[in-house]
Amino acid sequence: MTSGPPQIKQETSSTSKPDLIIFGSKRKRKNDEPQSTVLNHGPSQDSNGGDRNTSSGNKKYKPNHAAVQNPLEGVQGKLKEKARKLWDQRKTLPIWSHADVIRQSLRDKDVLLLVGETGSGKSTQVPQILAKETWCTTQRVPATAANGKKGFVHVGGCIAITEPRRVAAVSLARRVAEEVGTPLGSSSPASTVGYNVRFDNSTSPCTKIKFLTEGMLLQEMLRDPGLREYSAVIVDEVHERGVNVDLVMGFLKTLINGKYKGRYGVPLKVGVMSATVSMEGLIKFFEGDSETRDPLSSGYRQAEAESEWSGFSESDKETPDTGANQEPHGRSGLQKNNNLRAFHNKACDPGRELSTEASSDKPDRNGPLLRTTNDSAVAICHIEGRQYPVTVVYSPEPVQDFVDASLRNIFQIHYKEPLPGDILVFLTGQTTVESLEHLVNEYAIGMSPDLPNLLALPLFAALPQSAQQRVFLPAPPKTRKVILATNIAETSVTVSGVRYVIDCGKSKIKQFRTRIGLDSLLVKPISKSAAIQRKGRAGREAPGQCYRLYTEQDYLNLQSQNTPEILRCDLGQAVLTMKARGVTNIIDFAFLDPPPREAIEKALMQLFQLKALDDSGAISKIGLEMARLPLTVPLARVLLAAGEPELRCVPEVIDIISALSVENIFLTLHSEEREEEAQVARRELYRREGDHLTLLTTVRAYCAEHTDRKGWAERHFVSHRAMQAVVDVRKQLRAQCYRSRIHTGSDDTDNTPITSELATTILKCFLNGFAVNTARLMPDGSYKTVVGNQLVAIHPSSGLYGKKVEAIMYNEFVFTNRSYARGVSAVQMDWVGEAIGG
Ligand code: CDP
Repeated sequence: MTSGPPQIKQETSSTSKPDLIIFGSKRKRKNDEPQSTVLNHGPSQDSNGGDRNTSSGNKKYKPNHAAVQNPLEGVQGKLKEKARKLWDQRKTLPIWSHADVIRQSLRDKDVLLLVGETGSGKSTQVPQILAKETWCTTQRVPATAANGKKGFVHVGGCIAITEPRRVAAVSLARRVAEEVGTPLGSSSPASTVGYNVRFDNSTSPCTKIKFLTEGMLLQEMLRDPGLREYSAVIVDEVHERGVNVDLVMGFLKTLINGKYKGRYGVPLKVGVMSATVSMEGLIKFFEGDSETRDPLSSGYRQAEAESEWSGFSESDKETPDTGANQEPHGRSGLQKNNNLRAFHNKACDPGRELSTEASSDKPDRNGPLLRTTNDSAVAICHIEGRQYPVTVVYSPEPVQDFVDASLRNIFQIHYKEPLPGDILVFLTGQTTVESLEHLVNEYAIGMSPDLPNLLALPLFAALPQSAQQRVFLPAPPKTRKVILATNIAETSVTVSGVRYVIDCGKSKIKQFRTRIGLDSLLVKPISKSAAIQRKGRAGREAPGQCYRLYTEQDYLNLQSQNTPEILRCDLGQAVLTMKARGVTNIIDFAFLDPPPREAIEKALMQLFQLKALDDSGAISKIGLEMARLPLTVPLARVLLAAGEPELRCVPEVIDIISALSVENIFLTLHSEEREEEAQVARRELYRREGDHLTLLTTVRAYCAEHTDRKGWAERHFVSHRAMQAVVDVRKQLRAQCYRSRIHTGSDDTDNTPITSELATTILKCFLNGFAVNTARLMPDGSYKTVVGNQLVAIHPSSGLYGKKVEAIMYNEFVFTNRSYARGVSAVQMDWVGEAIGG
């Protein structure tokens, strides 16, 4: 808390009276002019045969007040009053003047692209606007029309809205249920609004509006490729560009272009919504224009993508790749590579055998990746947001410790600025969030009693739902909320009351590194577009301030857009999903941005090694089962292996996987003294075999405690909050195993001793999925990865930190100032050899 007041620089922001956007140009809106406009794209005939595209190329829509009529007629009982109150807020949302446009667009066309600022009402209102459309009803169609079967089938009736994150899906479903005046999800068989997220499906037989994560929609597609439950799928937050949204988009395009194959000819309407993206690339994507090869008009260049995917080189340079350690067992690397080469030539593109030289070429973007044009029709709608001016305050010089700088800023704001006005801090992950939460609470104790209270609230993906939802509640009287969030608060959720944003300028991202063949977690600078989104969070309800913990020059140097994840991460999961969904030729998939061919080949090899694909590149039985599990590819493989007769350790593996699903179950401590205390308290939990077994003993000990789990967690310096999430995941995974007929044995295992034989079995089991995440001890005491021969150190958070063992297996590869293995256990090299060779 030392440096002087930061320099203030005023940025021009939009005014509270937004511009009207017509064909991408801006002009000032007159007082009496409606806010809406629609750009029609594709065929210019409307459903009545009229010319929709006038000579000026657009058609203005006056708000139809029927659209804003109270939809709560008939809503009865306790929920009615709340819904009525919310209705007053809802009808002021910018989206409502576009309701007719939205409805008409999807009557006329298959696809609607909707761009609107966060908070304009897209996610909550669009499904409600569409739910009463006549096309949004269940249709009973003769099965014979499509596949020669007798009888009738039911298609449609429900609207799916996909979200990149669980927290958004759940909080939106909760909000929309309140607005509709219906109980949420599975709480009542009559509920019409529900959600489906990993490990938590809360829907009813009457669900009409279903929020779900992109991953869950992909799961549903595996069971029902035609998505017959739905009349419409709305893809929200497409600009986030995680791998899953790219897959969803590709499959939706295929469904539309395949004349609703699998849907008995019943149309599927598609809405694509975004806060920031320019829609040019998406129009081309849906219309099949070959120029869709260029990414989403984000200006993102393929060449950049390829270099990002191949990884950055700092630690690659640490050790030249001699290949000396690439083959940890007797089998010849060359022979294996040749087999793999032949295999992935077939798997990648069954119709085309590549020569060894050709397969190492960069992908030919104009070759097999081209798609034919089709007649898909796309409508576009722009919605102006409500944005107040936001003052930007840059750090005068680069910040070394952004947790400390955030703390300083929080208290400066709190001392200077009166209520109301909550603070939203953007950090990189659970660890930094929890560190700052601890510091804020500690410093708040010494605050002047005249000041309002400070309520620090964490918000990150692995937080239990109940804790996440606290963020959305209004602050108690005379209290300022300080929300400590990862980038999930960037666009996914709306936290009302925020007037101050502190942006650390960084986020944690996954990046594939070719040399080591693994995804690494890296803390990297955010993009300019993310910085603008973060700033925007401060100006939703009143003028605000945004403190950027980086210099103005650093801001100017930021990359303009986020790199789509598909261009920078391991594609194992994506390729497995595609194969399970029946895509034989991965290269020809309808990618928004085709990933480098090399990345696809690597993924195919990985899946082949994990036995998820057979020799011909087709999905195996194991692969299908893996695809159906809500786990990453390696963890899914581990869980299936655990059910095999020679291993039989499913309950143990479930416990470990559940603990791995949160970033850290142990509390981060802030002094050496406390750290030493914790070491002593946790002694009974530590296992010499390493972190996997330590997680297991911790989960077991916590679950075996039936009277006071919170007290137990405090005594052992374990996060009670994280453990609640772990227990929840464990319950869901057990249920999933039961459904997938994976042999779980007895569930009552919390008091079963973990013998060293059992520990060995468990670690061998994990090697089924993590054999490539291994490193062996070198004569000089360092560790080098078995694949790629890269230097890697055991992370200080690991129980094996500083220990020398024959070889290590790790859960994650993290790169900060050097390469670290996190979640580490001791293994033997012959186990690794067995796992790779077997
Ligand atoms: O999707 P978009 O960001 O355009 O807006 P939205 O999520 O539909 O939110 C519209 C408004 O609903 C927000 O400005 C909030 O006032 C409110 N909302 C809320 O209070 N709680 C939620 N979980 C979601 C939205």
